[in-house]
Amino acid sequence: MGAAALIMAAGEGTRMKSGLPKVAHEILGVPMVRLVVDLARHAGCDPVVVVTGHRAEQVEELIPDVRSVRQERQLGTGHAVMSAASEFADFEGSLLVLSGDTPLLRPDTIAGLIALRESSGAALTLLTARLPDPANYGRILRDRDGGVEAIVEHKDLADDQHDIDEVNTGTYCFDAAVLFAHLDRLSTENAQGEYYLTDMVEIFNREGMLVTAMLAEEPFETLGVNSRVQLAEATKVLQQRTNHELMLSGVTMPAPELVWVGPDVIVERDVVLLPMTFLYGATTIAEGATVGPNSRVVDSVVGPSASIESSTVLGAKIGAGAKVGPVAFIRPGTVLEADAKAGHCVEIKSSTVGEGSKVPHLSYIGDATIGAGVNVGAGTITCNYDGTDKHATVIGDGAFIGSDTMLVAPVEIGPGAITGAGSVIAHDVPEGALAVERGEQRHIEGWAESRRAKRGGSKG
Ligand code: UD1
Ligand code: CA
Repeated sequence: MGAAALIMAAGEGTRMKSGLPKVAHEILGVPMVRLVVDLARHAGCDPVVVVTGHRAEQVEELIPDVRSVRQERQLGTGHAVMSAASEFADFEGSLLVLSGDTPLLRPDTIAGLIALRESSGAALTLLTARLPDPANYGRILRDRDGGVEAIVEHKDLADDQHDIDEVNTGTYCFDAAVLFAHLDRLSTENAQGEYYLTDMVEIFNREGMLVTAMLAEEPFETLGVNSRVQLAEATKVLQQRTNHELMLSGVTMPAPELVWVGPDVIVERDVVLLPMTFLYGATTIAEGATVGPNSRVVDSVVGPSASIESSTVLGAKIGAGAKVGPVAFIRPGTVLEADAKAGHCVEIKSSTVGEGSKVPHLSYIGDATIGAGVNVGAGTITCNYDGTDKHATVIGDGAFIGSDTMLVAPVEIGPGAITGAGSVIAHDVPEGALAVERGEQRHIEGWAESRRAKRGGSKG
């Protein structure tokens, strides 16, 4: 029997003190709601439905591929589930209910929760955790036999209940049909005047239906993010988990606490990640590459044995053995082919740099196609923008671009051609030609000395 998932993500998250809805805040470059959707999908849930409400459009934009329903007024977690009831009208089986602000659960835990409900035949199986600081969580009340009696919200705790350290993680597996048949029993008679989903425990108990609980193995995985402090804690937990797995899979990190790798990033073995490295989005770092220190690579592919030092690489493809940096800015649409180089203070966007070609120092290359074996001298700029439109520059194989050449696009430099240093090249250069464009150098004999004399011998 396949499970379905409902993700509650309509709350504002007042404790975040933010203009952004809580579940849109990012952990390692991924919005929390997206992490929870991925979790449900990894667990094989179908359908996955997200309940949005507070700034709904902003949340829905982050998950365009996911079915969402609106909870127009946020009247509590029970009400969030009510808002999505019609989505599950014909559904029978396990309904996983997840909180959009609990993004660190492991797929194994989710699978275990579903399996336990199905094997126990319970109306509800809860995921609980024992936390050293249970302060803001709902607490689990157990009866003498260890059965789950109720969940009490922290704002509704009686004086003698504050010491209970078993908490509700906001993660539930319901028998869908049983849940929707009893949801209308929820009321708002509590400290917050909300429909609490947690009250289903008592409702099922009153009906003589079974409620079971599973204790999470790793308490940190159940961390709920309600504040920026917890956002930082959650980031650290995911960072440690990811880096631990990467190191065991053959990635070197001399200081793993200073490396941040997003959950969708692939890092192959014998990669070295140096301090202050950030790898986010759909990024792959191939075998033997080195990234860092001080580098950010987003939505990019870094080829085998390539190196990125103190640089930013966004939406680019860096070929095998290619070198980037120190301090290069490689922007979307850039392809550095094998053994190419983008050196110090070089910015490249929407351009291809051919195999073994080098742009070593102080250049801006935009909308250019550079062939193989080209050397681009220091300070060369493609003047690709005329104030209205962008234009292309093409440089043929084996060309040599003199230092400080201005390539006024559209312009094409033929294969093997050379441009003289300091030239402004506005016309196509034929294959094998030398193009020079600059005033003749002239000398005025004695001029320097006579100026010094006029100024009364002062230096310079
Ligand atoms: C909730 C649980 C608490 C548990 C804790 C775990 C209830 C009543 N309490 O408390 O027992 O210990 O999670 O983290 O369920 N949401 C909606 N619509 C609403 C209200 C909330 O979609 O009307 C969403 C929020 O966006 C959030 C999730 O539900 O993703 C949980 O809501 P939140 O207000 O954070 O509940 P807690 O106070 O943390
Ligand atoms: Ca919460």
